[in-house]
Amino acid sequence: MQSSKNSSVPSQMQSRASSWISNASPILATAVIVVVLSPVYSRAASDTTQAMLQELAAEAAEPFSTSAGIATWNRDANGRSCTSCHTNSVHANGRHERTGKIIEPMAPSVNPQRLTSRKKINKWFFRNCKWTFGRECTAQEKGDILLWLSQQ
Ligand code: HEC
Repeated sequence: MQSSKNSSVPSQMQSRASSWISNASPILATAVIVVVLSPVYSRAASDTTQAMLQELAAEAAEPFSTSAGIATWNRDANGRSCTSCHTNSVHANGRHERTGKIIEPMAPSVNPQRLTSRKKINKWFFRNCKWTFGRECTAQEKGDILLWLSQQ
């Protein structure tokens, strides 16, 4: 039915219409991406971490605690810890231990972009736990750290 309707449209008009669409599609696509992504950027750190904490809690044995979070953050594993790169203050710039690159503060109170992207949090938890502890962090460890960090 659709095609019989289309075939009644003069072919010139059809091609004009489709070229308009193909010219406009990058703009449309950009608009769609902006609309889809903007809630991620405008969302407060607490919303993202609340959602993640709820999910992690389903896999963790103990309720999350800030004191366990800071203990894991500072835990020494053969000379490595989260502070190796993020330094002793999450309110100050860090410095990558290997590359020397500056890492912006981890505390959301100082750096509001922190803990707003689930993708970023998961990516860096994975990488950094492996680098620091030689394994992935457990849901318990991640939850404890997230809870503590989200309040900094
Ligand atoms: C080898 C250096 C290094 C170590 C050690 C390290 N990190 Fe990171 N971390 C980084 C870098 C680099 C980034 C990303 C840079 C940026 O976002 O400015 C990052 C970002 C993060 C983020 C993303 C935060 C956000 O929302 O932007 C989290 C969470 C994180 N690290 C947790 C940890 C934890 C937990 C540990 C300890 C288990 C740890 N890091 C140890 C280098 C390190």
